Amino acid sequence: MAGTGQYAEILDGDVYKYYSEGEWKKSSSGKSVAIINPTTRTTQYKVQACTQAEVNKAMETAKTAQKSWAKTPLWKRAELLHKAAAILKEHKAPIAECLVKEIAKPAKDSVTEVVRSGDLVSYCAEEGVRILGEGKFLVSDSFPGNERTKYCLTSKIPLGVVLAIPPFNYPVNLAVSKIAPALIAGNSIVLKPPTQGAVAALHMVHCFHLAGFPKGLISCITGKGSEIGDFLTMHPGVNCISFTGGDTGIAISKKAGMVPLQMELGGKDACIVLEDADLDLVAANIIKGGFSYSGQRCTAVKVVLVMESVADALVDKVKAKVAKLTVGPPEKDCDITPVVSESSANYIEGLVKDAEQKEATFCQEYRREGNLIWPLLLDNVRPDMRIAWEEPFGPVLPVIRISSVEEGIHHCNASNFGLQGCIFTRDINKAMLISDAMETGTVQINSAPARGPDHFPFQGIKDSGIGSQGITNSINMMTKVKTTVINLPVPSYTMG
Ligand code: G3P
Repeated sequence: MAGTGQYAEILDGDVYKYYSEGEWKKSSSGKSVAIINPTTRTTQYKVQACTQAEVNKAMETAKTAQKSWAKTPLWKRAELLHKAAAILKEHKAPIAECLVKEIAKPAKDSVTEVVRSGDLVSYCAEEGVRILGEGKFLVSDSFPGNERTKYCLTSKIPLGVVLAIPPFNYPVNLAVSKIAPALIAGNSIVLKPPTQGAVAALHMVHCFHLAGFPKGLISCITGKGSEIGDFLTMHPGVNCISFTGGDTGIAISKKAGMVPLQMELGGKDACIVLEDADLDLVAANIIKGGFSYSGQRCTAVKVVLVMESVADALVDKVKAKVAKLTVGPPEKDCDITPVVSESSANYIEGLVKDAEQKEATFCQEYRREGNLIWPLLLDNVRPDMRIAWEEPFGPVLPVIRISSVEEGIHHCNASNFGLQGCIFTRDINKAMLISDAMETGTVQINSAPARGPDHFPFQGIKDSGIGSQGITNSINMMTKVKTTVINLPVPSYTMG
């Protein structure tokens, strides 16, 4: 059970402690932040409201710990990560329980998130050993005007302190996707978990604590973004920011100092359906892509752009599948569960009302109870409707009927977002041409958008993000290149 047994050390009364200097601590603020269970809409957990002084302390110890961590042999860093991964998997049940209660993620998906996170940490350890274990050797006579008098050795060195800010929808997986690359590369970590998901994140950090990482190398600071958010992101001790979330990321990128940024800020992933597509495959992927975790994924299918000639048939197939989705509490592993907060549900409702006013076709009746919104397919959506452009982050999916492929590409590219997109067709040549024309970080052919497998490159363009993620790219991003040049008094040619 979360918060009991070996987890008791992370709890003070009914408030979870934060983690700094290798210890579980109460904040000197004496204040806590309540985490509302999206299903019951009552307080489920409480976490410490950390102060700016506590942020300073975590930064200071992160800086010191990083210096000796960078001198720890790579194989030892990998060994500790493998240990943390194993503990994480062992503790999947209590962590998944927090995900169910804090973010209303269906029970099975919650377990999957933790197991996937353990796999990610292990893979990262292995990949780190491979890519950080080798550098480059360059010789000067390949550049015009030079003799072979200079030998250049390059290696990858850590950045320093990495600030990791994951979002509510994957508070464990998108935390470890930042923590593990940072650590294997020799950096230290200050983690600011989302409020919804903070307790799952604290339990995850506890696994790293049990694995025996050096004190101060990992900190987990909880509290209100409004009080410590800017203080953290603008902190002079931070050497890299890895953020996943909404448009707060745009504000962070404007305020952050001269530090590398890795950001994923959402998407309006288009699903373009051609006349020759396998409509059963499309319908299955629209359901999986549009309604998994009630549409609260950056990579969810967020607009279907279907050729008019096959639109009726596709909408019928999707409608039939929507009718079979189970709706209810995450504990019962329902397909559709309450969205994360009342404000989120209100926002989604605003988009639905706008579409209603502008006469979209409702394939189901709109229904909401508290934060629970029944799955809704909106047909005949037009570009003047908000739902055509905005991210509902909920179980509401618009269908726009198009009369040409160009119209679909144009709609996709007119979005401020550019995370992923997908194309359904049996013609690979057409698929490649459309993929090349789509202004998105990834295009999936004949499958719904998805970030995983976690070692694939994952990136957004435009307002969808900065940089590229995926295990290898994250490790590289969290390092910088260091070169040493050996200057010889006379040119030296091998075997010469
Ligand atoms: O919403 C965050 C984004 O990274 C989605 O990940 O695994 O659901 O495609 P995934």
